[in-house]
Amino acid sequence: MSPTRIIIDTDPGVDDALTFLLALASPEIKLEALTTVHGNTNVENTTRNALAVLELLNASHISVAKGTALSLHMPVHISGDAVHGLSGIGNSNLPEPKSKPVDLHAIDYLIERALAEPGEITLFPIGPMTNVALAIRKEPRFAKAVKELVIMGGAIRSGGNITPAAEFNIHADPHAAHIVFHSGIPITLIPLDVTYKCLLLPEDVERLNKISSPISRFVRDAISIYMDFYKQYEGFKGCALHDPLTLAVIIAPELFTFENHYVDVDTSSGISTGKTLADFMKVSKKPANMKVALDVRGRDFVELFLERMETLSRSISD
Ligand code: RIB
Ligand code: CA
Repeated sequence: MSPTRIIIDTDPGVDDALTFLLALASPEIKLEALTTVHGNTNVENTTRNALAVLELLNASHISVAKGTALSLHMPVHISGDAVHGLSGIGNSNLPEPKSKPVDLHAIDYLIERALAEPGEITLFPIGPMTNVALAIRKEPRFAKAVKELVIMGGAIRSGGNITPAAEFNIHADPHAAHIVFHSGIPITLIPLDVTYKCLLLPEDVERLNKISSPISRFVRDAISIYMDFYKQYEGFKGCALHDPLTLAVIIAPELFTFENHYVDVDTSSGISTGKTLADFMKVSKKPANMKVALDVRGRDFVELFLERMETLSRSISD
């Protein structure tokens, strides 16, 4: 079976970076490009980080297109420094990348790629969805040309992680999420309900670092601040593999329990801004607009992630 061709729209971000590693360690996937967006850090940093991580992976042939710096409507949102560090990728201290982003803005890059090969590209938004929303608005043919969206975002039965109601990616640009949720593009949603069941533990990192490799060291150094944040603010050992879990939709879909639901997002300016609401009782009489992951065999995913990180570390060893 030929690999699934994907583009990741991303705000690297520690867990975003781990997603690039997993994509390149997975034969089921062909990572075709990264489009960057504001989010965990500013878009200058997210673009730099995307280029730098691809260089670490000897994958600078993969295009990076720089995207939007601000949300559609929300004020500049809470920075992710405490979670992802000032660089956005923890203490990884990757060298300044030699490669540059493509000349096209991420919005135009996404439109160009989707229209060039309609139905071929699966898009993985794992940050605020400003780029995707603007592509939908700028080019009416874009929505029909995208094969599927696999979104890391939302909190369905779970509480939020940036406010009590909302998950970070959605809260950062709820108006963009609203445009995407109602675009008609087939959507699979990977919300906090499942990502918090996928915790990478300190002992997992120690196991990976038995392999001497720039990859295993990157994982250790990138997640150091991320792990400290979870210990200090969320009270548990380990860190959630929010973004990498999206790839399991391709690699190991059997790990998930999915339900089809009509899901909307609160774009008001009150305390529930960015809340994602699933119509479990079907009171809206609206048809389901997405497939939602409501459970996952989390530890099995983490084991899969670790095995592939070990293989990748051995392939790029010292
Ligand atoms: O809420 C988790 C999401 O917010 C992840 O995508 C993480 O990278 C941050 O962007
Ligand atoms: Ca992200």
